[in-house]
Amino acid sequence: MDLKEVCPRNDDGKLFTMLVVGLSGSSAIQRALATSSANIDFLSPQRKITAINTYPFQLTVDKLEEALLEARLKGKNVRGLVLTNPQNPLGDIYSPDSLMKYLEFAKRHHLHVIIDEIYMLSVFDESITFHSVLSMKSLPDRRRTHVIWGTSKDFGISGFRFGALYTHNKEVASVVSAFGYLHSISGITQHKLCQLLQDTEWIDKVYLPTNRFRLREAHKYVTAKLKALEIPFHNRSSGLYVWINLKKYLDPCTFEEEQLLYRRFLDHKLLLSCGKAYMCKEPGWFCLIFADELPRLKLAMHRFCDVLEEQKQDLIVKQLEDAMWE
Ligand SMILES: Cc1ncc(COP(=O)(O)O)c(C=O)c1O
Repeated sequence: MDLKEVCPRNDDGKLFTMLVVGLSGSSAIQRALATSSANIDFLSPQRKITAINTYPFQLTVDKLEEALLEARLKGKNVRGLVLTNPQNPLGDIYSPDSLMKYLEFAKRHHLHVIIDEIYMLSVFDESITFHSVLSMKSLPDRRRTHVIWGTSKDFGISGFRFGALYTHNKEVASVVSAFGYLHSISGITQHKLCQLLQDTEWIDKVYLPTNRFRLREAHKYVTAKLKALEIPFHNRSSGLYVWINLKKYLDPCTFEEEQLLYRRFLDHKLLLSCGKAYMCKEPGWFCLIFADELPRLKLAMHRFCDVLEEQKQDLIVKQLEDAMWE
């Protein structure tokens, strides 16, 4: 897809020009942007609530400053910050205030910011408003702020491999568009996407309300099961997943045991990414994806309960054996 100039409107209705590049999936864009920096560090905030941490896993500027300092002390040349909003796997949505603070932090340190908004239309609680960086009246550092979106999640068509980069930076746009030579999208797919994305009336009146309703129902079903099983989870209303804590099924609670439980899920034909894959500092967390039809969700949750029952039985046997040795 070619480099295009688009003119989104901000809250005042004022037009501002941005360049858009389409590539094969948003991960291709992330790779293209990160191509000069071989090292990517993950900042995984702690879940403990303190005076500064008002909610679990909160991202604060203090934590960003700390992580940046730590990386620089290790001799790393930090060039940018990647934020995902809505967050994956937490489902947190950053407020405009927090977003502004992160962007100002990046400006202070001359960092590029890549904001991945791939779940922006998958906010299924209608009382919550998602604020895109694209709708901000002014950006602290326009030249270093880049937004990614794609159709993989919000439209459930990851097979189309479509991702878009919005940037004010002509150099970045032209470098990323050069990747189009190897990562371009087929003409037929571009044509189909064009038809889909231009039908804004159908998207706004039919597709999005239906999609949000289905996500809400699936989330309600899965979280009701989690509550019945007394499994703690991060209760959010965006994304296709829920971040759950299976710590009580691990003894000892280590990343090795987490991996074993992950394998046990796989043996029962369930794929739940474990916390370690998200660089979580605390073992026991898993990401449960719920965006599916009810009959399949029922089957999946049935298997999920079977695995946990099996795991519980094993823990009881292990604890009995341990008690006999004492
Ligand atoms: C936050 C985020 N960004 C990007 C991607 C990749 O999307 P795509 O299929 O467009 O490459 C994923 C996929 O899981 C994701 O979770």
